[in-house]
Amino acid sequence: MFLSAAVRSAVSQTVRSLHRSAARAGAGGIFVHRDTPDNNPDIPFEFTEENKKRIEAIISMYPEGHKQAATIPVLDLAQRQYGWLPISVMNKVAEVLEVPPMRVYEVATFYTMFLRQPVGKYFIQICTTTPCMLCNSDSILEALQHKLGIKVGETTPDKMFTLIEVECLGACVNAPMVQINDNYYVSASLLNIRTKLHMHTLDRN
Ligand code: FES
Repeated sequence: MFLSAAVRSAVSQTVRSLHRSAARAGAGGIFVHRDTPDNNPDIPFEFTEENKKRIEAIISMYPEGHKQAATIPVLDLAQRQYGWLPISVMNKVAEVLEVPPMRVYEVATFYTMFLRQPVGKYFIQICTTTPCMLCNSDSILEALQHKLGIKVGETTPDKMFTLIEVECLGACVNAPMVQINDNYYVSASLLNIRTKLHMHTLDRN
């Protein structure tokens, strides 16, 4: 009750970040699986022939009997092929690596780079951790929400864009930092981001 306006504002920002984290937005975090039409063990998935060769090459880098060590790169391949990781895809990874499915679920639910829900064609992750926040990442976030017509954690109806708020992306020295798919945009000004979005035909206004 004795908090100054500045402290109340900081507390409010902290609470907002906790509530809008990548975990809530579907990029990992606490997740309880419930079968749905889009996410159940019966959804067919098979690696492409090209990816099967990649998996062979990845596994060959590890000692005999240690296929499990390839869990992260094989999950990454699976996600790049399918777009995200429903349970049937994780089960296929477990089958390929000859490990219990739980070993794969543990990894996929720990790392936020693994997506447990579908995302749009362009997956926009904006860092709002302290160094980026101090460089005005909140303004970029607000502008993107306004521009795309979605809130944090949502996907546009045309499935083109998903916007989430993430913790430090490891480029604090050049804050603020935004990631779109595999690309990092550092020292991200709103103009810079809008230009990139336009290049991806994201700018629809
Ligand atoms: S705090 Fe944003 S990249 Fe580190």
